[in-house]
Amino acid sequence: MHVMDPAAEAFIKVCSDVLEKNAIDGYTVPSRHIYPHQWLWDSCFTAIGLRHVDIRRARKELRTLKRGAWSNGMMPNMIFHESFLNFDHTLWKSKSLKEAPRNVSTTCITQPPMLAEAVFRVGQSMPKAERLKWYRSMLGCIKDYHKWLYTERDPDGDGLVVQLHPYESGMDNSPPWMYVLSRMNHPWWLKIFNKHSIKIIINHFRRDGGFVPVSQRIGLRDALRSFYAIKELAKRKYKYANGDKNQVVVQDLMFNCILIRANKLLLHMAEATGEKLPSELTDAFASTEQSLEKLWSHENNRYYSRNFLTKRLIKQDTLSAFMPLYAGCISKSRAEILARRLRKAGEYGTDFPVPSVPLDSVHFRKRKYWQGPSWANTNWLIIQGLKNYGFDSLAGDLRHSTLLMIARSGSYEYFSPLDGAGEGIQDFSWTASLAIDLLKTD
Ligand code: GLC
Repeated sequence: MHVMDPAAEAFIKVCSDVLEKNAIDGYTVPSRHIYPHQWLWDSCFTAIGLRHVDIRRARKELRTLKRGAWSNGMMPNMIFHESFLNFDHTLWKSKSLKEAPRNVSTTCITQPPMLAEAVFRVGQSMPKAERLKWYRSMLGCIKDYHKWLYTERDPDGDGLVVQLHPYESGMDNSPPWMYVLSRMNHPWWLKIFNKHSIKIIINHFRRDGGFVPVSQRIGLRDALRSFYAIKELAKRKYKYANGDKNQVVVQDLMFNCILIRANKLLLHMAEATGEKLPSELTDAFASTEQSLEKLWSHENNRYYSRNFLTKRLIKQDTLSAFMPLYAGCISKSRAEILARRLRKAGEYGTDFPVPSVPLDSVHFRKRKYWQGPSWANTNWLIIQGLKNYGFDSLAGDLRHSTLLMIARSGSYEYFSPLDGAGEGIQDFSWTASLAIDLLKTD
């Protein structure tokens, strides 16, 4: 579909309406129904599309994220809207920690560092003089955030940062994370809740179940384990604790790939504005790129996330395997291995790719959240990655199938990789916004 096509223009209008509907107090919620707060990487993806239709709103979307920044630089994955304070908010109690902001309540963990990419793309849609001003206004926050990642989340100083909860990966119930959660020492109450009859009762009262069939959401066992992991993390003030075995500590593949790209953009934007980044920070950037090799398995010819506690790769396949393309720091021959795999039928090569888990995995469920469905945001990242390595025709095919599933079904949260049917919640912001970006950029 060409940008000047009337059909494309109509499609953009439909997507813009979704973003309009989800606008609240200067930012955009992922969905009015089950996600009534501000999420970190959601707002970044939203701004990337919004810049084409309303640049002022795109800028504001990112500026509002600064409200949530902690004094130590941490950017939380959620900033709660005070009109919808509920269980989620009381669970975290961010204000009991001195580094958390006083004016808003937030979670105490982060999400993939997409902020630099969003600030950069929004800047690209502005005239140069304005762009530099824009970069200057956002650079401090990005710099502090990346500094925090390296000081607080790189315990062995190898450049790969660790994540302490599945929510930090952005892919809540992804198999590698569910695997590490399953290795924790679970308390008695978790075992009781897991009994079949009790599960049925709890599922009945689930908040998300009111809008989306429970079968399309995170499974109850995994949700309870995630909840338990938050409680454990709270005991340690949401920090990595050296020597503690009952914690989850993962060098997540997608997170680190996004960080590599974000570091490059941070450097680029700093240079453009005449700012020099401290050498400790740029040295850390270089070590992340080098250490990505630790996530490569020669035996399996693919990348995986790594369990920091055991120093072993978590050999569960997910679409994160393609994120080194987006990082842009791997060799062309490695990139070719990844691109070949993307097309492979019976794995990731479906009619509506890219499935979050490949078809040949025992964990594949075509409707279950991050355990099978295709998502617009991860497709967008893979498309940029394919372009980085000149796989333009593959990138074009993925762009086309992504737009097709959204055009046919609507701005759903995720889609069946088999027939492109929309699943999860309707009118989901990043799907609408990234469709606009894909339509506006070839
Ligand atoms: C879910 C997703 C996460 C997203 C959030 C809001 O938790 O796993 O990636 O940011 O919903 O859309």
